[in-house]
Amino acid sequence: MSRLDKNLGIEHNLKITSDVVRNRISKILLKNSEIEQNILIDAMNYMLLGDGKMIRPFLVFATNSIYSTTIPQHVVDLATAIEVIHTYTLIHDDLPAMDNDDYRRGRLSCHKKFEESTAILTGDALLTLAFEILSSDNNASIDPKVRLHIFNEMAKLIGFKGILLGQILDLNCKVQKYSAEELKRTRILKTSNLFIASCKFSAMMNNANSEDINVLALFAKKLGLAYQIKDDIEDNENEGGQDLLKGLVNESLKHLDIFDSKSLLLKDFTSYLFRSCLSN
Ligand code: IPE
Ligand code: IPE
Ligand code: MG
Ligand code: MG
Repeated sequence: MSRLDKNLGIEHNLKITSDVVRNRISKILLKNSEIEQNILIDAMNYMLLGDGKMIRPFLVFATNSIYSTTIPQHVVDLATAIEVIHTYTLIHDDLPAMDNDDYRRGRLSCHKKFEESTAILTGDALLTLAFEILSSDNNASIDPKVRLHIFNEMAKLIGFKGILLGQILDLNCKVQKYSAEELKRTRILKTSNLFIASCKFSAMMNNANSEDINVLALFAKKLGLAYQIKDDIEDNENEGGQDLLKGLVNESLKHLDIFDSKSLLLKDFTSYLFRSCLSN
């Protein structure tokens, strides 16, 4: 069984995370006679096996490490499903009707490498694949009530009251001036929501108590917000974000204090993510 190692650095643990998730994805999309090979599978492979940083799967595994030294298969599946959902959001985010980006993860975006129609369907395929993974036999050992709750909350976090609302608000903010509060809400919906899913559902799968689950959700919300602000600063789409960053990162770290050294990987990862912009 795979495991993260608190004695090794974040980069090493990110590599472990990436290997575990890629391995699971490769098995699902295996080039064998059972799966009819077509352009859709090619595009799914192209996008899933690109050079993503694996932030969300790492959050799943690092949260799991608060409760367990090994990573059970259902937690691997949770991380994989979330990375698959994240990749779907990026494919659609890059489409000409959305952000119209030609590049993603250092290479051509899905609609540039393939047809626009293929990119739309690849996004749809990844979104549905995530729920196929989450409902697979590997997850049968989880309490059925917890399982159903995760299913339901995942759908809400990524659906029309979640990421999709964030994306529509984000498109709107390009034509209409947003207040700081509206911007914050947009960023939380479009980016924090998958960070929240990663930490919260990993804790739920470990039967964590409700205080732990709530604290992890708060940590993830602030981390996601800070991450989107950092991304906007790097894309020159930010007004006054830098001032907010330091406070947010410190607040998110503070939430982890209740876990003491058990949350070391989450704490180190938070510092690692913001090392370039918080060094002075
Ligand atoms: C990109 O997310 C979209 C934002 C939330 C800014 P990541 O920065 O996690 O993208 P990958 O997965 O590493 O490509
Ligand atoms: C992407 O946000 C967020 C989602 C896909 C939900 P951005 O549009 O800011 O991210 P980049 O800059 O394209 O990676
Ligand atoms: Mg966007
Ligand atoms: Mg974009």
